[in-house]
Amino acid sequence: MAAPVEVALVLLLLLPFAAADTDRDALVAFKAGVTSDPASALRSWNDTAHFCRWAGVTCTAGWVTSLDVSSSNLAGEVSPAVGNLTHLVVFNLTRNGFSGNIPPSLGRLQQLEFLSLCDNAFTGEIPDTLRNCTRLTVAYLNNNNLVGGVPGWLGALPNLTIVRLSHNSLSGRIPSSLANLTKIERLELDQNLLEGSIPDGLWRLPELAFFTVSMNRLAGEIPTGFFNMSSLQGIALANNAYRGELPPNAGARTPNLMYLFLGGNRLAGPIPASLSNATQLQVLSLANNSFTGQVPVEIGKLCLGSLQLSNNELTATDAGGWEFLENLTNCSNLAEIFLDGNRLAGAMPTSIARLSPQLEKLSLANNRISGTIPPEIGNLVGLQTLSLQSNLLAGTIPEGIGKLENLQELVLEQNNLAGPVPSAIGDGLTKLLKLDLSSNSLNGSIPPSLGKLKQLTFLNISGNELTGHVPRELFALASLSSVMDLSYNQLDGPVPRDVGQLTNLALMVLSGNRFSGEVSAELGSCQSLEFLDLSTNSFTGSIPPSLSRLKGLRMLNLTGNRLTGSIPPELGQMSGLQELSLSRNELSGGIPASLETMSSLIELDLSDNRLDGQVPLHGVFANTTGFRMTGNSALCGGAAWFRLPPCPATSNSTRHAHLFLKFGLPAIVGAMCLAVLFAALRWRRKKSIIANTAARSVLNGNYYPRISYAELAKATDDFTDANLVGAGKYGSVYRGTLL
Ligand SMILES: *[C@@H]1O[C@H](CO)[C@@H](O)[C@H](O)[C@H]1NC(C)=O
Ligand SMILES: *[C@@H]1O[C@H](CO)[C@@H](O)[C@H](O)[C@H]1NC(C)=O
Ligand SMILES: *[C@@H]1O[C@H](CO)[C@@H](O)[C@H](O)[C@H]1NC(C)=O
Ligand SMILES: *[C@@H]1O[C@H](CO)[C@@H](O)[C@H](O)[C@H]1NC(C)=O
Ligand SMILES: *[C@@H]1O[C@H](CO)[C@@H](O)[C@H](O)[C@H]1NC(C)=O
Ligand SMILES: *[C@@H]1O[C@H](CO)[C@@H](O)[C@H](O)[C@H]1NC(C)=O
Ligand SMILES: *[C@@H]1O[C@H](CO)[C@@H](O)[C@H](O)[C@H]1NC(C)=O
Ligand SMILES: *[C@@H]1O[C@H](CO)[C@@H](O)[C@H](O)[C@H]1NC(C)=O
Ligand SMILES: *[C@@H]1O[C@H](CO)[C@@H](O)[C@H](O)[C@H]1NC(C)=O
Ligand SMILES: *[C@@H]1O[C@H](CO)[C@@H](O)[C@H](O)[C@H]1NC(C)=O
Ligand SMILES: *[C@@H]1O[C@H](CO)[C@@H](O)[C@H](O)[C@H]1NC(C)=O
Ligand SMILES: *[C@@H]1O[C@H](CO)[C@@H](O)[C@H](O)[C@H]1NC(C)=O
Repeated sequence: MAAPVEVALVLLLLLPFAAADTDRDALVAFKAGVTSDPASALRSWNDTAHFCRWAGVTCTAGWVTSLDVSSSNLAGEVSPAVGNLTHLVVFNLTRNGFSGNIPPSLGRLQQLEFLSLCDNAFTGEIPDTLRNCTRLTVAYLNNNNLVGGVPGWLGALPNLTIVRLSHNSLSGRIPSSLANLTKIERLELDQNLLEGSIPDGLWRLPELAFFTVSMNRLAGEIPTGFFNMSSLQGIALANNAYRGELPPNAGARTPNLMYLFLGGNRLAGPIPASLSNATQLQVLSLANNSFTGQVPVEIGKLCLGSLQLSNNELTATDAGGWEFLENLTNCSNLAEIFLDGNRLAGAMPTSIARLSPQLEKLSLANNRISGTIPPEIGNLVGLQTLSLQSNLLAGTIPEGIGKLENLQELVLEQNNLAGPVPSAIGDGLTKLLKLDLSSNSLNGSIPPSLGKLKQLTFLNISGNELTGHVPRELFALASLSSVMDLSYNQLDGPVPRDVGQLTNLALMVLSGNRFSGEVSAELGSCQSLEFLDLSTNSFTGSIPPSLSRLKGLRMLNLTGNRLTGSIPPELGQMSGLQELSLSRNELSGGIPASLETMSSLIELDLSDNRLDGQVPLHGVFANTTGFRMTGNSALCGGAAWFRLPPCPATSNSTRHAHLFLKFGLPAIVGAMCLAVLFAALRWRRKKSIIANTAARSVLNGNYYPRISYAELAKATDDFTDANLVGAGKYGSVYRGTLL
């Protein structure tokens, strides 16, 4: 009688063991698939402890039920052996670097309820076998590189509540079977390549609260049924190709709606007043469409956090259309208002000064707003950006603006503002990063207080009527990194030695003023300069050789000064220089022949100097597109286009040419290297259509470098050979990581 009992006991003991061994083997296989574990997240996965105590592993009754190695910096491929963890309920690989396909064997995990593979680098299609994971409630596959379609069988997994497939490369249509997901609460499909229309019936899903399909290629009209969904809390259809109008009762039956993102479509017609019935609405984003008419006053009833109506065809005049702003003054949560790029006209409503002190962003730019900036604007103490550019604002900049102590961006460019630059800007706006007052009629001198803006990275006061010396403090503002543009004013005096402190600055434009004295040798210390325009001033003396220390310089314009002497041969060593403009000075000597081999050089202006000798034939010299040399008396040879006299038999090549060859050739190689990199910056000489001053033409193109030479140098480890990917006709290509 004893024997069978023993057998049964042995079996009872053995069975779980055998099964557990499969689990252990599967985990060991999983670990073997991990090729990189810099944080030693799987260090504990060894025989000193039972596998149920390994980090990230949870067991129930001896079986692995949860494997969570999220945010562990792991890379490699997921072993198919995971399909042997047949009791797995939670599989969490969130935020790692796993690549390769999703193993089809996951379809064997019939207990699986939570699957998160998001924020990895998985490729291939979503495997069909996953249709067997019928208990799935949560599936996060977002932020990978998955291709193929959204699987239709998803609609047959009855317990799904959250599905995230955003940010992949999924294509095709949204399957109509998803309308069977009666428990679904969140369906997120943004940033894929989906096309077609939204299937009918999705809006009948009783629990659906968040539906997001922004940034796809969806088209057609927005199904009106969505505006009937009482469960809806957020819907994002932005950046697709939806057209048509919003139903006149939109908002009336969506009492729980908090987010409405419809920007970047082709929606037209009026903004329905009924949206004000969606009393929970926090973000109303209708930007980048073709909405017309006035912003309904009822919108002011909503206590919004963000109102985004930029780039539509909305109107307002003195006779009406601004009332909604008055009503929005009751809303204390309001954090941002974007009304830029519409057809709003009439005087600037004084109600803006009574908006919430919580307001952080206010943009009314690119409209036809006249009147003055209300002095009480200083009440908006929470403001971080104030953009009023490209309007018809007149009067002075109120001193009260200096109370906006949190302001980071102040852009008043292109209005009719007159009077002085208020000293209060420098005294009060200590957090300012960007100040653009260009293209107005501001006069007086530049207040020294601007030198107190120790965070300022961008300063543009060009195209005004400012006079006098530039305060030394401004040239000592080491924070300036992107732009310092003082061009087209009536500023005079020398550029102080302090200028050498602008070591982070990429673009300096002083053209069109009355600056005098020598070109400061200290400019050679501004090591990040890529664009230096000192043209049309009264600089005297010779070109300082120290400029050649500017290794990232792409464009140098000294045209229209009173410089003398010859071109320093060191300029030939400047690997980054792509464009050099020296015309209308008093330079003398010959043209360095080696310039013709600089394939990066696309524009060369040597006109109105005293250059002599042979004009080269090739490169930039080949035709009249990029080369100008009129007004030099003794040039000869060159391409037939120029109709110059032939050169004497022994053309006396000057000392400069020799030196240029000696120093220039190595430099040219370097210049070509950078050419390709800079091409990537999409740097182009696009002339602006709004150009009323030459300054504007510089500033409206893509001239402002987005990436600085310093950043590039850092990214490529100072252009080391190790980062050289290849060299070809147009230069060398480097690999680099921008941090
Ligand atoms: C093995 O795992 C233990 C923890 O269980 C850990 O302390 C030890 O460092 C691991 N050994 C190795 C060689 O990684
Ligand atoms: C999965 O991992 C993420 C990131 O660590 C975590 O926030 C989440 O709670 C985990 N989910 C489950 C069910 O373990
Ligand atoms: C799953 O387990 C079985 C039985 O232990 C084994 O034969 C098989 O190789 C395992 N599968 C994988 C993919 O490791
Ligand atoms: C999926 O389930 C079906 C039926 O239960 C079964 O025949 C098939 O082998 C399963 N596929 C996988 C990959 O487990
Ligand atoms: C769905 O969930 C319910 C409740 O958790 C469960 O009883 C049911 O078995 C699940 N359905 C499937 C197909 O797993
Ligand atoms: C939804 O489910 C029903 C019943 O299970 C089924 O008949 C229908 O085909 C499904 N619809 C779609 C679009 O898959
Ligand atoms: C929305 O609801 C209203 C009132 O219940 C109904 O008349 C209308 O047909 C519904 N619209 C759609 C598209 O279902
Ligand atoms: C919806 O808003 C409109 C306009 O504000 C209003 O006339 C109407 O009574 C509101 N309807 C509901 C159901 O609240
Ligand atoms: C509108 O379009 C502009 C330019 O494409 C973009 O920068 C902005 O983010 C868009 N605004 C919204 C709210 O989508
Ligand atoms: C707008 O504000 C005015 C003045 O506060 C008020 O009389 C009016 O009723 C408000 N209109 C709406 C639609 O809220
Ligand atoms: C140099 O500046 C002058 C005057 O400011 C301008 O006309 C010319 O186009 C500039 N040259 C280049 C190459 O940009
Ligand atoms: C001038 O040279 C450029 C570049 O080599 C070329 O694209 C352009 O067609 C030429 N123009 C003329 C008029 O030959």
